[in-house]
Amino acid sequence: MTSNRKKILLSGVKPTGRPHIGNYFGAMKQFVDMQEDYDTLIMVADLHALTTVHDPSALRADILDLVFDYLAIGLDPSKVTLFRQSDVPAHTELAWIFNCLTTMPYLMRAHAYKDAAAKNKEINVGTFDYPMLMAADILLYDTDIVPVGQDQKQHVEYARDTAEKFNRIFGETFRRPEEYLMSEVETITGIDGRKMSKSYNNTIPLFAGEDDIRQAVMKIVTDSKETTEPKDPNTDAVFALHKLFSTDDLADIRKRYEQGGLGYKESKEILIENMNKYLAPLREKRADITNDATTAIQILKNGAEVAGDRARLKMMTVKERVGLTL
Ligand code: ADP
Ligand code: TRP
Repeated sequence: MTSNRKKILLSGVKPTGRPHIGNYFGAMKQFVDMQEDYDTLIMVADLHALTTVHDPSALRADILDLVFDYLAIGLDPSKVTLFRQSDVPAHTELAWIFNCLTTMPYLMRAHAYKDAAAKNKEINVGTFDYPMLMAADILLYDTDIVPVGQDQKQHVEYARDTAEKFNRIFGETFRRPEEYLMSEVETITGIDGRKMSKSYNNTIPLFAGEDDIRQAVMKIVTDSKETTEPKDPNTDAVFALHKLFSTDDLADIRKRYEQGGLGYKESKEILIENMNKYLAPLREKRADITNDATTAIQILKNGAEVAGDRARLKMMTVKERVGLTL
């Protein structure tokens, strides 16, 4: 049977500090670009943030800031269901049901857990169980598509596996979601050449001012090739950022890399100029938003009502399937 229902898109970001251009190009920009074409739900993933943030005033501030960030990049709360994960209790309720189906060895294979375990002896249960809460986020809304960065791809696979396992045991209940990754550059590189991440301190903040952009770009680590020498655009961290910000001149820059004649200093100057052109409107929009908590709280309240109704309906089916209704 074909239907012309709009496909459902769900994604979210954790409120854990200022967003950087990796978050933007890897995930957030897709939310904006896709909001018209999908039935879109965007979350402030505050329960996931609790796995690492144990500072109530920082968390409160970051939740409101993330709402303003979403508005600044162009999410339209009249079109999108913009809500906060902890406002819809069905997320944790469904996560518990998934906990009772999933196995420890399966969760122990998750990259994020393995990385955390390698670094941290006292890993909390929330971090271990992160994929099941995320599966609940996604599956509760019959989500078709989940735009995320490369590092979240496995979590969407876990959600799909969890849907399949539940459906096998209790009958067809959950739709299998697909991840959606930005195609050109799947992982954005930070100023040290590693993946850009808050945890590596190598980020360029999305709303950075001109001086901060200049400072960050000037710090990007390159090799020591002279201006005249040919350079490899595929391994250079400056060029990786040109791919995002210098789309008009990209072919020319690539040629000058390959033939030699473009020094890293000049390449960085071009990048700074192009980044400013691209980011200034976002920065101005963010600054124009009166950081008015009442507005953010009202947006979240409206979103929670819409998401909450959908989630409650789904939970009625889930409870019926597993035998929790009498
Ligand atoms: P961080 O690693 O800085 O803490 P998060 O884990 O909060 O970032 O990621 C939020 C979203 O941004 C996720 O969808 C993630 O995949 C995406 N993302 C984060 N860093 C990058 C990056 N360097 N390149 C592409 N996408 C990224
Ligand atoms: N784990 C995601 C991140 O770190 C945030 C997130 C939580 C999410 N629940 C989600 C993303 C559901 C997509 C769908 O960025």
